[in-house]
Amino acid sequence: MMHDALAVSTAVDAPTPARTRMLADVRDGLFRRGQKELPPTYFYDARGSRLFDEITRLEEYYPTRAERALLETHADAIAELTSPRAFAELGAGTAEKSRVLLRAMLARGPVQYLPIDVDGHTLDETARALRRALPALEVAPIVADMRDDVSADGARHPLLYGFLGSTIGNFDTPAAVALLQSIRTSLRPGDRLLVGMDLVKDTRVLEAAYNDGKGVTREFNLNVLRVLNRELGADFPLEAFEHRAIYDEALARIEMHLDVRRDCTVRVPGIGCLELVAGESIRTEISCKYDRASATALLAAGGFQLTEWFVSAAPEFALAVAEPVE
Ligand code: SAH
Ligand code: AVI
Repeated sequence: MMHDALAVSTAVDAPTPARTRMLADVRDGLFRRGQKELPPTYFYDARGSRLFDEITRLEEYYPTRAERALLETHADAIAELTSPRAFAELGAGTAEKSRVLLRAMLARGPVQYLPIDVDGHTLDETARALRRALPALEVAPIVADMRDDVSADGARHPLLYGFLGSTIGNFDTPAAVALLQSIRTSLRPGDRLLVGMDLVKDTRVLEAAYNDGKGVTREFNLNVLRVLNRELGADFPLEAFEHRAIYDEALARIEMHLDVRRDCTVRVPGIGCLELVAGESIRTEISCKYDRASATALLAAGGFQLTEWFVSAAPEFALAVAEPVE
C-alpha cells in the first residue's frame, strides 16, 4: 500500500507534514484580507480524483479528448524524437492517455515509467493497472506534492518529462515558471519536456467546459471543502456554497470559485474561526489558457526552448515539446 500525500486522515490532530502544509495553506489562503483562495491540490483525494475522471468523459470538457487525439496522431513522432528510455509524468492521475505514448515508446525498446502524483491512492491503482496492461513496462511511482518536489529520481536517460492535461495552467505565471525551472534541474542534455496546454478560444466553449450540465464540476469544486472537513476537522457547511466558473479574457484564464450564499462561521481546528460573508467567494482554481506566443515565452522563462507545437482540431489544445536550454 502506497503512502498518500494528501489523505492525511486517521487522527484529526496528528501533525503529519501533509497536514501541517494544509493548515498553512488554509491559514494563508482563507484567513486574510482580499480574495480568499485555496490551492487546487486539495481537490484530489480518492473521491476528487474519481470526480475528475468523470469530468474527463463529459461532453463539455473537451481538453482530455483533444489531447488524446493529439497523442494518437503524434505519439510515434514524439517517441522518435529522442528514443527516451524513461517517461516521467507530473500529475499523472489515471495515466489513461499516457498509455498511447507508452505503447509507442515500448515499440522501440524497454521503457521505465515514473508517474508522479499527490494522490497516492490513485497512483497505486494506476501502477497496478499499467503493470497488468503493459507487462513489459517498468513502473516506478512517486508520491509527491509538485509544489515542493518535481524530481524524477532514479529515472533513466534520455528522459521524456511529461506534464499533460494542461495542469500547468493551474499555476499562475510566477509559480509555473518556478515549476519549470525545477523540472529543468532534473533534466540532462538530450532529455525533452512534453507539456499539454489548453488554448485560448471562444468564451462560451471555455465556460461550458467548467459548468457542465450534470453538475460534476460543481461536485468536484465542493470536494475541496469535504477534504478540509475530513482532514482538518473543519465544519464548512457545504450547502452554504455555490460553484461558479468564469473566463477572464484579460488574464486568459478560467477562475473557479465557491460563492458564499449566506453568512457563516466556520471552525478550523488549529487555526480558529473563519467568518464568511454572503456575496464573497473562495477562489479554488485558475486554469490558464495559452497561445503559441505565451507558451513559448512561459517555457523560455522556465529554461526551455520550444521545438515542436502540435495543435488539435477545434476546440484547440496543444502539445508542446521543448528542450532544456544549455
Ligand atoms: N494528467 C492527468 C490528470 C490531470 S488532473 C490528465 O491529463 O488527465 C491533475 C492531477 O494532478 C491529479 O491526478 C492530481 O492528483 C494531481 N495533482 C494536483 N495537485 C498536485 C500537486 N500539488 N502535486 C502533485 N500532483 C498533484
Ligand atoms: C487538472 N486541470 C488541468 C483541470 C483544468 O481544466 O484546469 C482541472 C479541472 N477543473 C475543473 N475541471 C477540470
